[in-house]
Amino acid sequence: MTIYPDPNNPYPLENYKQLCFLKNIITNPNIIVGDFTYYDDFENPHNFENNVLYHFDFIGDKLIIGKFCAIASDVKFMMNGGNHPLNYFTTYPFTIFGHAWENTMSVANTSKGDTIIGNDVWFGYNALIMPGIKVGDGAIIAASSVVTKDVEPYTIVGGNPAKLIRKRFEDEVINLLLKLQWWDWPIEKITQNIGILCSNNLAALKQLY
Ligand SMILES: CC(C)(COP(=O)(O)OP(=O)(O)OC[C@H]1O[C@@H](n2cnc3c(N)ncnc32)[C@H](O)[C@@H]1OP(=O)(O)O)[C@@H](O)C(=O)NCCC(=O)NCCS
Repeated sequence: MTIYPDPNNPYPLENYKQLCFLKNIITNPNIIVGDFTYYDDFENPHNFENNVLYHFDFIGDKLIIGKFCAIASDVKFMMNGGNHPLNYFTTYPFTIFGHAWENTMSVANTSKGDTIIGNDVWFGYNALIMPGIKVGDGAIIAASSVVTKDVEPYTIVGGNPAKLIRKRFEDEVINLLLKLQWWDWPIEKITQNIGILCSNNLAALKQLY
Protein backbone atom coordinates (compact mmCIF):
# COMPACT_ATOMS: atom_id res chain seq x y z
CA MET A 1 0.00 0.00 0.00
CA THR A 2 1.33 3.48 -0.90
CA ILE A 3 1.39 6.20 1.71
CA TYR A 4 -0.89 8.47 -0.28
CA PRO A 5 -4.05 7.88 -2.33
CA ASP A 6 -3.75 7.13 -6.01
CA PRO A 7 -4.98 10.17 -8.01
CA ASN A 8 -5.83 7.84 -10.88
CA ASN A 9 -8.28 5.85 -8.77
CA PRO A 10 -11.80 7.08 -9.67
CA TYR A 11 -13.24 6.04 -6.30
CA PRO A 12 -10.63 6.64 -3.60
CA LEU A 13 -13.05 5.84 -0.74
CA GLU A 14 -13.66 2.11 -0.85
CA ASN A 15 -17.10 2.27 0.78
CA TYR A 16 -18.34 5.60 -0.57
CA LYS A 17 -18.63 5.54 -4.35
CA GLN A 18 -20.56 8.84 -4.40
CA LEU A 19 -17.19 10.58 -4.20
CA CYS A 20 -14.77 10.44 -7.10
CA PHE A 21 -11.41 11.86 -8.07
CA LEU A 22 -13.08 13.81 -10.82
CA LYS A 23 -10.51 13.71 -13.61
CA ASN A 24 -11.02 9.95 -13.88
CA ILE A 25 -14.70 10.05 -14.79
CA ILE A 26 -14.65 12.96 -17.24
CA THR A 27 -15.30 12.03 -20.86
CA ASN A 28 -15.56 15.52 -22.41
CA PRO A 29 -12.18 16.73 -23.71
CA ASN A 30 -13.28 20.33 -23.04
CA ILE A 31 -13.37 19.61 -19.30
CA ILE A 32 -9.89 19.42 -17.80
CA VAL A 33 -9.43 18.56 -14.12
CA GLY A 34 -6.29 18.32 -11.99
CA ASP A 35 -5.15 15.54 -9.68
CA PHE A 36 -7.00 14.94 -6.41
CA THR A 37 -9.87 17.31 -7.19
CA TYR A 38 -12.95 15.48 -6.02
CA TYR A 39 -16.66 15.66 -6.63
CA ASP A 40 -19.14 14.33 -4.09
CA ASP A 41 -22.66 13.80 -5.43
CA PHE A 42 -25.69 12.80 -3.36
CA GLU A 43 -26.59 10.19 -5.97
CA ASN A 44 -23.91 9.45 -8.52
CA PRO A 45 -20.71 11.36 -9.28
CA HIS A 46 -21.24 10.72 -12.99
CA ASN A 47 -23.88 13.45 -12.72
CA PHE A 48 -21.01 15.96 -12.83
CA GLU A 49 -20.91 16.36 -16.59
CA ASN A 50 -24.69 17.00 -16.60
CA ASN A 51 -23.98 19.85 -14.17
CA VAL A 52 -21.71 21.52 -16.73
CA LEU A 53 -24.60 23.27 -18.42
CA TYR A 54 -24.98 24.33 -22.06
CA HIS A 55 -21.51 23.07 -22.87
CA PHE A 56 -21.55 22.54 -26.62
CA ASP A 57 -18.68 21.23 -28.78
CA PHE A 58 -19.42 23.76 -31.53
CA ILE A 59 -18.63 26.58 -29.11
CA GLY A 60 -15.52 24.88 -27.79
CA ASP A 61 -15.27 26.68 -24.47
CA LYS A 62 -13.40 24.85 -21.76
CA LEU A 63 -13.92 24.21 -18.07
CA ILE A 64 -10.50 23.98 -16.48
CA ILE A 65 -10.26 23.00 -12.79
CA GLY A 66 -6.99 22.83 -10.86
CA LYS A 67 -5.73 20.33 -8.33
CA PHE A 68 -7.03 19.56 -4.82
CA CYS A 69 -10.42 21.24 -5.28
CA ALA A 70 -13.44 20.01 -3.32
CA ILE A 71 -16.72 20.19 -5.19
CA ALA A 72 -19.94 19.52 -3.32
CA SER A 73 -23.10 18.00 -4.71
CA ASP A 74 -25.16 19.99 -7.21
CA VAL A 75 -22.43 22.51 -7.99
CA LYS A 76 -23.07 23.72 -11.53
CA PHE A 77 -20.98 25.47 -14.15
CA MET A 78 -22.93 27.43 -16.75
CA MET A 79 -21.01 27.57 -20.03
CA ASN A 80 -21.24 29.98 -22.97
CA GLY A 81 -23.80 27.92 -24.90
CA GLY A 82 -26.39 29.19 -22.44
CA ASN A 83 -26.23 32.74 -23.78
CA HIS A 84 -28.87 34.10 -26.11
CA PRO A 85 -28.08 37.36 -27.94
CA LEU A 86 -28.64 40.38 -25.73
CA ASN A 87 -28.23 43.12 -28.27
CA TYR A 88 -30.70 41.96 -30.93
CA PHE A 89 -34.37 43.01 -30.93
CA THR A 90 -35.23 39.41 -30.06
CA THR A 91 -33.43 36.90 -27.88
CA TYR A 92 -35.24 34.01 -29.65
CA PRO A 93 -32.68 31.70 -31.30
CA PHE A 94 -34.41 31.41 -34.72
CA THR A 95 -31.39 30.03 -36.53
CA ILE A 96 -31.21 26.74 -34.60
CA PHE A 97 -34.57 25.64 -36.04
CA GLY A 98 -33.35 25.78 -39.66
CA HIS A 99 -35.64 26.03 -42.70
CA ALA A 100 -35.95 29.64 -43.83
CA TRP A 101 -34.64 30.68 -40.39
CA GLU A 102 -31.23 29.11 -40.97
CA ASN A 103 -28.27 31.51 -40.97
CA THR A 104 -30.24 34.30 -39.38
CA MET A 105 -27.44 34.43 -36.80
CA SER A 106 -29.80 34.92 -33.92
CA VAL A 107 -27.63 32.89 -31.60
CA ALA A 108 -25.22 34.43 -29.17
CA ASN A 109 -21.94 35.27 -30.88
CA THR A 110 -20.09 36.57 -27.88
CA SER A 111 -18.30 34.17 -25.61
CA LYS A 112 -17.01 35.08 -22.19
CA GLY A 113 -14.23 32.54 -22.64
CA ASP A 114 -13.18 29.55 -20.64
CA THR A 115 -14.12 28.96 -17.02
CA ILE A 116 -10.88 28.61 -15.09
CA ILE A 117 -10.75 27.38 -11.51
CA GLY A 118 -7.52 27.47 -9.52
CA ASN A 119 -6.21 24.95 -7.02
CA ASP A 120 -7.48 24.14 -3.51
CA VAL A 121 -10.85 25.77 -4.18
CA TRP A 122 -13.83 24.60 -2.11
CA PHE A 123 -17.26 24.83 -3.74
CA GLY A 124 -20.18 24.64 -1.30
CA TYR A 125 -23.36 22.76 -2.08
CA ASN A 126 -25.40 23.95 -5.07
CA ALA A 127 -23.16 26.84 -6.14
CA LEU A 128 -23.62 28.10 -9.71
CA ILE A 129 -20.64 29.50 -11.61
CA MET A 130 -21.50 31.66 -14.60
CA PRO A 131 -19.66 31.50 -17.98
CA GLY A 132 -16.08 32.68 -18.26
CA ILE A 133 -15.52 33.10 -14.52
CA LYS A 134 -12.00 32.76 -13.10
CA VAL A 135 -11.73 31.56 -9.50
CA GLY A 136 -8.37 32.03 -7.76
CA ASP A 137 -6.42 29.48 -5.76
CA GLY A 138 -7.64 28.80 -2.26
CA ALA A 139 -11.03 30.47 -2.70
CA ILE A 140 -14.22 29.29 -1.00
CA ILE A 141 -17.60 29.52 -2.72
CA ALA A 142 -20.43 29.53 -0.17
CA ALA A 143 -23.38 27.15 -0.50
CA SER A 144 -25.99 28.13 -3.12
CA SER A 145 -23.99 31.12 -4.36
CA VAL A 146 -24.34 32.46 -7.87
CA VAL A 147 -20.87 33.55 -8.96
CA THR A 148 -21.06 36.29 -11.59
CA LYS A 149 -17.64 37.93 -11.12
CA ASP A 150 -14.11 36.61 -10.90
CA VAL A 151 -13.10 35.46 -7.42
CA GLU A 152 -9.77 36.56 -5.93
CA PRO A 153 -7.44 33.91 -4.47
CA TYR A 154 -7.99 33.00 -0.83
CA THR A 155 -11.25 34.88 -0.52
CA ILE A 156 -14.66 33.61 0.60
CA VAL A 157 -17.57 34.71 -1.55
CA GLY A 158 -21.28 34.05 -1.12
CA GLY A 159 -24.80 35.01 -2.06
CA ASN A 160 -26.61 35.85 -5.27
CA PRO A 161 -24.78 37.59 -6.83
CA ALA A 162 -21.80 36.32 -4.85
CA LYS A 163 -20.00 39.07 -2.92
CA LEU A 164 -16.84 39.07 -0.84
CA ILE A 165 -17.54 37.68 2.64
CA ARG A 166 -13.94 38.03 3.77
CA LYS A 167 -10.35 37.30 2.91
CA ARG A 168 -9.22 34.01 4.39
CA PHE A 169 -5.85 35.31 5.62
CA GLU A 170 -3.74 38.45 5.92
CA ASP A 171 -2.17 39.51 2.62
CA GLU A 172 1.27 38.36 3.81
CA VAL A 173 -0.03 34.81 4.26
CA ILE A 174 -1.96 34.83 1.00
CA ASN A 175 1.13 35.98 -0.89
CA LEU A 176 3.21 33.28 0.75
CA LEU A 177 0.70 30.58 -0.14
CA LEU A 178 0.52 31.81 -3.71
CA LYS A 179 4.30 31.68 -3.94
CA LEU A 180 4.50 28.23 -2.36
CA GLN A 181 1.98 26.68 -4.76
CA TRP A 182 2.06 23.56 -2.62
CA TRP A 183 -0.36 21.77 -4.95
CA ASP A 184 2.43 21.52 -7.54
CA TRP A 185 4.91 19.92 -5.16
CA PRO A 186 5.77 16.25 -5.60
CA ILE A 187 3.16 14.20 -3.80
CA GLU A 188 5.82 12.92 -1.39
CA LYS A 189 6.60 16.49 -0.28
CA ILE A 190 2.90 17.30 0.13
CA THR A 191 2.43 14.15 2.18
CA GLN A 192 5.42 15.01 4.34
CA ASN A 193 4.09 18.51 5.07
CA ILE A 194 0.36 17.85 5.46
CA GLY A 195 0.66 18.60 9.17
CA ILE A 196 1.67 22.17 8.31
CA LEU A 197 -0.82 22.60 5.45
CA CYS A 198 -3.59 21.47 7.79
CA SER A 199 -2.69 24.09 10.39
CA ASN A 200 -2.41 27.84 10.64
CA ASN A 201 1.15 27.77 11.95
CA LEU A 202 2.64 30.67 10.00
CA ALA A 203 6.16 30.18 11.34
CA ALA A 204 6.16 26.59 10.08
CA LEU A 205 4.69 27.65 6.74
CA LYS A 206 7.43 30.24 6.29
CA GLN A 207 10.07 27.55 6.77
CA LEU A 208 8.69 25.72 3.75
CA TYR A 209 9.51 28.65 1.50
C1 LIG B 1 -19.10 30.21 3.24
C2 LIG B 1 -18.95 29.44 4.53
C3 LIG B 1 -17.71 28.53 4.45
C4 LIG B 1 -18.73 30.50 5.60
O1 LIG B 1 -18.44 29.90 6.80
P1 LIG B 1 -18.38 30.81 8.16
O2 LIG B 1 -17.48 31.95 7.94
O3 LIG B 1 -18.11 29.88 9.29
O4 LIG B 1 -19.89 31.29 8.20
P2 LIG B 1 -20.64 32.35 9.08
O5 LIG B 1 -21.92 31.72 9.45
O6 LIG B 1 -19.74 32.88 10.16
O7 LIG B 1 -20.96 33.51 8.06
C5 LIG B 1 -20.08 34.55 7.72
C6 LIG B 1 -20.81 35.51 6.83
O8 LIG B 1 -21.06 34.84 5.58
C7 LIG B 1 -22.46 34.83 5.28
N1 LIG B 1 -22.76 33.54 4.64
C8 LIG B 1 -22.51 32.31 5.13
N2 LIG B 1 -22.90 31.38 4.26
C9 LIG B 1 -23.42 32.03 3.21
C10 LIG B 1 -24.00 31.60 2.01
N3 LIG B 1 -24.12 30.32 1.71
N4 LIG B 1 -24.43 32.53 1.14
C11 LIG B 1 -24.30 33.84 1.43
N5 LIG B 1 -23.74 34.31 2.56
C12 LIG B 1 -23.32 33.41 3.44
C13 LIG B 1 -23.14 34.99 6.63
O9 LIG B 1 -24.43 35.50 6.49
C14 LIG B 1 -22.20 35.91 7.35
O10 LIG B 1 -22.42 37.21 6.88
P3 LIG B 1 -22.19 38.50 7.84
O11 LIG B 1 -20.71 38.54 8.11
O12 LIG B 1 -22.66 39.65 6.99
O13 LIG B 1 -23.01 38.27 9.06
C15 LIG B 1 -20.18 28.56 4.85
O14 LIG B 1 -21.29 29.36 5.23
C16 LIG B 1 -20.61 27.71 3.66
O15 LIG B 1 -21.36 28.11 2.77
N6 LIG B 1 -20.08 26.46 3.63
C17 LIG B 1 -20.37 25.53 2.58
C18 LIG B 1 -20.94 24.25 3.19
C19 LIG B 1 -21.26 23.27 2.14
O16 LIG B 1 -21.94 23.56 1.19
N7 LIG B 1 -20.73 22.06 2.31
C20 LIG B 1 -20.96 21.00 1.33
C21 LIG B 1 -20.21 19.79 1.67
S1 LIG B 1 -18.47 20.01 1.38
